[in-house]
Amino acid sequence: MKEEKLRVLLKDMSLKEKIGQMMQLDVSCFRNEGPVTGSEVDQEIAGEDLTLAGSILGAVGAEEIKDLQKRCMEKQPHHIPIVFMADIINGYKTIFPIPLALGCTFSQEDARMVGDIMAKESAADGLHVTFAPMVDLVRDARWGRVMESTGEDPYLNSRMAEAMVWGIQGEGEHYEGHLGACTKHFAAYGAPTAGKEYNNVELSERTLREDYLPSYQAAIDAGSAMVMTSFNTLDRIPATGNQWLMRKILREEMGFDGVLVSDYNAIGELMTHGVAEDKKEAARQALEAGIDLDMMSGCYIGGLEELVKEGKIREELIDEAVLRILRLKNRLGLFEDPYRGLEDQDTAREIFTEENRAKARKAAVDSMVLLENQEGFLPLKKEEKVAFIGPFVEDKHILGAWSFFGDIEQAVACCQGIKEKGAQAVFERGCGMVNPGQTLYGFRYNMTNTESWEEIDALIERAAKTAADCDKVVLLIGEAPIQTGEGSSRGDITIPEAQKKLLDAVTKVNKNTAAVIFAGRPLDIRDVKEKTKAILYAWMPGTEGGHAVADILYGDAEPQGRLSMSLPWSVGQVPVFYGELSTGRHIEDGEWVENRFLSRYSDMPNQPLYPFGYGLGYTEFSYSEVRLDKEEIRMGEPLQVSVTVKNTGSRRGTETVQLYVTDKVGSVARPMRQLKGFTKLTLEPGESKDAVFDLTSEDLRFYTRSMEYKAEPGDFIVWVGANSRTKNGKKFKLR
Ligand code: GLC
Repeated sequence: MKEEKLRVLLKDMSLKEKIGQMMQLDVSCFRNEGPVTGSEVDQEIAGEDLTLAGSILGAVGAEEIKDLQKRCMEKQPHHIPIVFMADIINGYKTIFPIPLALGCTFSQEDARMVGDIMAKESAADGLHVTFAPMVDLVRDARWGRVMESTGEDPYLNSRMAEAMVWGIQGEGEHYEGHLGACTKHFAAYGAPTAGKEYNNVELSERTLREDYLPSYQAAIDAGSAMVMTSFNTLDRIPATGNQWLMRKILREEMGFDGVLVSDYNAIGELMTHGVAEDKKEAARQALEAGIDLDMMSGCYIGGLEELVKEGKIREELIDEAVLRILRLKNRLGLFEDPYRGLEDQDTAREIFTEENRAKARKAAVDSMVLLENQEGFLPLKKEEKVAFIGPFVEDKHILGAWSFFGDIEQAVACCQGIKEKGAQAVFERGCGMVNPGQTLYGFRYNMTNTESWEEIDALIERAAKTAADCDKVVLLIGEAPIQTGEGSSRGDITIPEAQKKLLDAVTKVNKNTAAVIFAGRPLDIRDVKEKTKAILYAWMPGTEGGHAVADILYGDAEPQGRLSMSLPWSVGQVPVFYGELSTGRHIEDGEWVENRFLSRYSDMPNQPLYPFGYGLGYTEFSYSEVRLDKEEIRMGEPLQVSVTVKNTGSRRGTETVQLYVTDKVGSVARPMRQLKGFTKLTLEPGESKDAVFDLTSEDLRFYTRSMEYKAEPGDFIVWVGANSRTKNGKKFKLR
């Protein structure tokens, strides 16, 4: 439909109908169930208002969506189509690795592929928009939603965010066969104080702009159709009622002109934040802040009409919001075809196909990170007798916390993947994912363990006997998927007690033990590191996780993941990340000196157990010195940086070559180093290739003391190496 026709339609709509378009309801409201999540929502939404809703969240499945679309359009005064949205975060039916794992691929190709497939599968089943990518920068492993992010670094997050948007939205004018993307959560939801869910965020404006906003900007520049607000406050003002954040920063400075949706009841939560005394005031603040779509609070439908009539808000603000919503529906082609081809397509043809699962297997392999491999413990040989022990041997809960529409039963368990290798393998459960007598309360399901400690001790004893009788042991352990995701902050980020007992019992009888760790966050795995010879961090690898683990363990695939988030030595270190400032009492990387008056802990190392960008493969690589095509550049002049990387091992391997920059002196203190580029090289044994990067002063910009975003002349070091602690550097000057 042409823009002017949208404006004619808008002009013809009643105020109540316009406000209805600004209401998004959970599909449970149309199924006569209670709200499925979030704070209790006392929607005073009467029956007839229900049918005014412009959007429904959480409905998927062609039949239900067709039925709802038909029912609602019939009742809509202008028969305006509903826009259907849901959380497709790391897959619809084919589930991919969680985004934190996807970040470890350092591959825009993988990220785009994941976005493309999850969009195709869910669009084929009727969906219009997904609430993804989640691009919040994360540096605190206590927070449960780190699993949804691509990690701690602004540059990596930005590259992954844009790739996900490209994949999700596809290239069609109407996102044909794909979805609109809704980038979330604006802004800085990933920095809650103390890692506690929904907690307040305390950031300087400079840190907000320099570290937390770039990934949203990248998603907006990639054309993200929507943005979602965050639950947290910034400067003690809730984001969802924050005009500075939403109108000045997001719309004016960052150039976002799409639909801005609140998070679930976040408008209603302006009252619990204590900044609005009632729903009407909450509605006023949110609309003034530019929130177009009210997700499940009922504040807009319950308060805006009166506010207009009382002259407390301008109807133009409502018209602006509704026009953006109508534009979104128009961009999706809904006015021409409210069913987006659902009637004439065989939806099944796109969904859970062999090809999609093969790509999920590749993404899972690419995302796993080999942290240790002493004595060439891995890859395993098929003639070795290996005991695979732990809750993740058979358990298929490896899809991650936001994979509601995936079918856990269709996941490939590790034992299946391993058996298919035809190796000498025996299996023992050893203990549960959950401690005896414990219940974990999840988003859509709970996990409980009714076994007694006596039963678990017997299982552990049996597993140890089996372990003693084998050449090697591989423990498959970690945290349950519902220990991460929304509402799952943890103060203790170690593996469960029962699994610690299993680790002790098995490694006591067989020193030839490795561990595969399943987790949605960086865990404190000091004890695992002390007791094992090899560690593969598998994250939550998705539907094909069991195949991917077996492929890597038996060397049919090479581990190539690099950490997207630092693994802390202990929870006492968090937030811990590589890009910290040096402080005035700097301690060199890993150095231990008696002088107590330095910026460090007295009872543990300063450095994380494993740093950002770290990971091993099954071969080794050497790096030449960094080469620069000039020793100094002027503003805007490119600097070419190159190294030669050689595969010095005996197997083909893929290396993620990372480029960092240090700004030695600035008008404000600068991070010790910042990622500014990466590239992946696959090399045969003995083969060498050059990694070449182009840097300009654009890459060196930051918020100066006067808060101007620009580069400053001075001395810099460019580092190129295998991870964030590389010592392979070269100086240059910016004039
Ligand atoms: C949740 C989450 C958000 C999600 C939304 C809809 O509370 O914060 O990420 O997209 O509600 O499910």
